[in-house]
Amino acid sequence: MKALLVDTRSEYPVMRMDEASRPDPGENELLVKIKATALNRADLMQKEGKYPPPKGASPILGLEMAGVVENTGRGVSLYKKGDHVFGLLSGGGYAEYCTIHEKLAMPLPDGLSFEEAAAIPEVYLTAYQAIIWLGELKTGETILIHAGASGVGTAAIQLAKAMRNARVITTAGSEEKCALTATLGADLCMNYKEEDYAASLEETFGKNSVDVIIDFIGSPYWEKNINVLAMDGRLIYLSVLGGSAVENMSLIPILRKRLTIKGSTLRNRSDSYKFDLTNDFRKHAFSLIESGALKPVIDSTFNWEQCEEAHQKMADNLNAGKIILTGM
Ligand SMILES: NC(=O)c1ccc[n+]([C@@H]2O[C@H](COP(=O)([O-])OP(=O)(O)OC[C@H]3O[C@@H](n4cnc5c(N)ncnc54)[C@H](OP(=O)(O)O)[C@@H]3O)[C@@H](O)[C@H]2O)c1
Repeated sequence: MKALLVDTRSEYPVMRMDEASRPDPGENELLVKIKATALNRADLMQKEGKYPPPKGASPILGLEMAGVVENTGRGVSLYKKGDHVFGLLSGGGYAEYCTIHEKLAMPLPDGLSFEEAAAIPEVYLTAYQAIIWLGELKTGETILIHAGASGVGTAAIQLAKAMRNARVITTAGSEEKCALTATLGADLCMNYKEEDYAASLEETFGKNSVDVIIDFIGSPYWEKNINVLAMDGRLIYLSVLGGSAVENMSLIPILRKRLTIKGSTLRNRSDSYKFDLTNDFRKHAFSLIESGALKPVIDSTFNWEQCEEAHQKMADNLNAGKIILTGM
């Protein structure tokens, strides 16, 4: 089969179309003809050799896909050849074919294109896990979602509104991105390049007003995050795009406000954790996709031969929502 492989022969690693062996489905796996996949920041890091795939995962990039079941392992009972599915991968999405455990696959809802479906698994499952499982957001609480126009951010805004009717506050790096988060339901969006988000937030909603924070930025926001959190607030780290070292940190606010701080990476979670997450997401959020209350935000679609261009767009922070690769 054709696949995009990382070519490390030049000064910078680049994606190159090449031949790779088609994977064989295991006992409980589906072999899927991929119709669309989507970019994730992790792909850029893996390409640079900074994020090796977990043990047993395909070395090919690509953490999600939508496609058509081509074949099934002997123990598969949930899907059959010809079914349209989408789901989370631990690798292997940048290819014509991939394998996926049947418990990670989800049926394509009516009316959803392969491109839209490929935009869902990584960011919605990550956001669902962060908001519902880790952040334990309750109905009517206030949530602050940093990088609100990112893939995960756009999914998180929709989930927090649709599932918890939360007050949603976002940060983003341009007026256009702020406007996008408002159309998705954000009650307040602050351009972090133009204003001090903690000061603006405090001015609008008062001191200690945020119950849950979803953060991808890390050290530059540490102190402000701690300051705006309410009593019993929860701070969830999913990435540290802006830096990971915190100096001169006082632990007193953590005690005084009884704060909970958690971090997570989805990719290296166990299979059983991902099965449970997929199952829970299907139970509680799938009807919201079918009704259109959750609608993946697609920034752009590239033919997979233009993968390098797509990667560059993400590296330059120019995407709002997901970047899709298609044409496999
Ligand atoms: N832990 C997990 O399980 C998990 C799962 C999925 C993704 N992630 C991580 O979550 C993050 C978002 O993923 P994604 O795919 O949604 O990314 P994305 O669509 O590429 O968006 C990332 C956005 O973050 C903002 N940003 C980047 N560097 C920044 C900085 N130094 N300070 C402030 N903002 C910055 C940029 O938006 P602005 O223009 O608004 O600045 C950028 O467009 C990534 O770091 C990814 O690796 C983690």
